[in-house]
Amino acid sequence: MLARMIENSVGRPVRGGNFFDRERELRLLWQRLATDHVLLLAPRRVGKTSLLYRLADDAPQHELRAVYLTVAHAQREVEFVKALVDALGSHKDGEGAVKRVSKGPLKRLLRRTRRIDAGPLSFEFDTSAPDAEQHWTTMAEELATAMERLGHAWLVLVDELPIFVMTLLRQDPTGLRARGFLNWFRDLRNPAGRAPRIRWVVAGSIGLDAVVARHNVGDTINDLNPVALGAFTPQVADAFLRALAESYGLVLGDDVRARVCERAGWLIPFYLQIIFSKLHELATEHLETPTPALVDRVVDELLGPTYRAYFDYWRQRLTEELGHPDDTQALALLSAAARAPEGASRDVLAQVLGEHVSDAAERDAQLRYLLDILENDGYLVREADQYRFRSALLREFWVRRVA
Ligand SMILES: Nc1ncnc2c1ncn2[C@@H]1O[C@H](COP(=O)(O)OP(=O)(O)OP(=O)(O)O)[C@@H](O)[C@H]1O
Ligand SMILES: [Mg+2]
Repeated sequence: MLARMIENSVGRPVRGGNFFDRERELRLLWQRLATDHVLLLAPRRVGKTSLLYRLADDAPQHELRAVYLTVAHAQREVEFVKALVDALGSHKDGEGAVKRVSKGPLKRLLRRTRRIDAGPLSFEFDTSAPDAEQHWTTMAEELATAMERLGHAWLVLVDELPIFVMTLLRQDPTGLRARGFLNWFRDLRNPAGRAPRIRWVVAGSIGLDAVVARHNVGDTINDLNPVALGAFTPQVADAFLRALAESYGLVLGDDVRARVCERAGWLIPFYLQIIFSKLHELATEHLETPTPALVDRVVDELLGPTYRAYFDYWRQRLTEELGHPDDTQALALLSAAARAPEGASRDVLAQVLGEHVSDAAERDAQLRYLLDILENDGYLVREADQYRFRSALLREFWVRRVA
């Protein structure tokens, strides 16, 4: 049997034939979406966005129109709504909803635009309009109503919501603003008195659950049915490597695939993709058939300065998501955990944090919070009382380049 071609891709979300497996997760998601909104939480780089794209691509088979938006860069609530307007406006069946709103009382907030290709006129939410700030709630509510009136059922995929919630929390550490937004968003998802025709999937890294619990706003997401996304199973990882190898005409023996999985440590598709990519490159360059020893060389190169960006991302994201001083504290904990392969005990980590937070009670609460996030986000795993890096690869990077 001829295997289908699968492209080796390292970085951007994958789509179509390049999206491998996730059959079980997709089945579960569609099952849940029949009755519920979904919260898709997974560590960094596990493949959330790719999975959201896949949901969008498969939505027509489920009689749904789908739109995808990311709110990673939204700084204010009004920008969250703008992302929604823009996503809908660029969907051929969604434009109608935006047009409908553009005829209502909020029309002055929608700027007419024409795409460069002189395509049809469309609208964008003008967040710089003087009263945009007051009307973001109404804008989104009118849009949701207009979407329902179009007569289709919709699937709205919101990526990176936890980052936006963290942004709001930084702007107002009392949590009032985040609570206000989250409450409003819950009401938008669940309009009173009627069955919603819009299904929502809210996705992101870092435990949104941990964050909302810390700020006592857990009730604002309790309508979302949680679905977890993890690494590939060893069987799927092996099949994935086979598929890549066949697509590129590379011979990867059983021992070589096993070595790739062993060195990846944590079988997220991203790690398999980057190791395969380099392996393919070296094998082609030196006309070598890959061996386990070549895999080791590949990993060594990947951890060197040239490929820093692959892993540095995990460090940068901490700052983007946690802000100061939480990021510095998280970095200190990670560096302590990186030092030994078996990780660090909770006591050791408490001591490390003690250098940043002197009050014992405050320190313990902060330790719980940060460890919760680092576990959720896939940096650390806990075994008994030890916290160690989930990925041996990331740990090696940390030891060499960060700690
Ligand atoms: N199902 C898949 N099949 C093949 N490769 C995949 C799959 N899912 C993810 N990948 C690989 O992992 C990388 C990251 O995927 P993606 O961007 O979807 O993850 P993410 O969880 O959204 O990451 P981030 O947390 O950075 O937003 C992709 O560039 C691709 O190499
Ligand atoms: Mg993503």
